[in-house]
Amino acid sequence: MTNLDLDLAKTISAVSKKELGLLYYFPEEIERALKENRAVIIEENGRLVGWGFWTIRNGPPRRASWLEVHTLYIYPEFRGRGYLNKFFDMAYQRLKDANLRAYFFTRAGAVMHMAEKYGFKKASVSDIPISVWIKMLLHRLNPRRLSSYLKYGWRILGAWKWDVYIR
Ligand SMILES: CC(C)(COP(=O)(O)OP(=O)(O)OC[C@H]1O[C@@H](n2cnc3c(N)ncnc32)[C@H](O)[C@@H]1OP(=O)(O)O)[C@@H](O)C(=O)NCCC(=O)NCCS
Repeated sequence: MTNLDLDLAKTISAVSKKELGLLYYFPEEIERALKENRAVIIEENGRLVGWGFWTIRNGPPRRASWLEVHTLYIYPEFRGRGYLNKFFDMAYQRLKDANLRAYFFTRAGAVMHMAEKYGFKKASVSDIPISVWIKMLLHRLNPRRLSSYLKYGWRILGAWKWDVYIR
């Protein structure tokens, strides 16, 4: 990792910490995802426009692994200009041949729209295997992450209203 990558990881982590639509990812988690190429970073003329990441969690033995798409973000000044399309295009090209089920949670209309374009279907949380849920919950309930949920205030009570999409 170069210093530039470390700065990028810190920037993305800081955005995820304060942005209501995103789960907080620690700088080292973002750093690892960058290193493992589990990310699409979008730039224009040397300016950072946005990004999206994924994490793979193994499902039941001998079944496909499950990939969670997360930390999708476009800076406000670049929104509505097709960059989300670009993320889905690039991620699709990278992952289309892998034996993976992909899923994500969202409340963003633009993301739901793109998901449907790319063959995701609105699903039920019970469509995700329990073994994947356990890994996901352990990740979300990491004590270092808990204080970040304060950003939601009382809105945390509506967390169950997030839609899940699966492909
Ligand atoms: C969500 C986010 C990534 C969307 O990026 P964006 O650049 O604003 O997306 P766009 O406006 O280009 O919309 C992409 C597509 O969704 C459509 N769309 C936009 N808003 C929509 C809505 N509310 N309902 C349905 N479709 C919508 C657009 O028409 C466009 O479709 P098209 O390409 O087929 O014409 C961006 O707003 C963001 O970073 N938000 C904060 C973080 C966040 O909430 N991330 C999502 C986590 S799941």
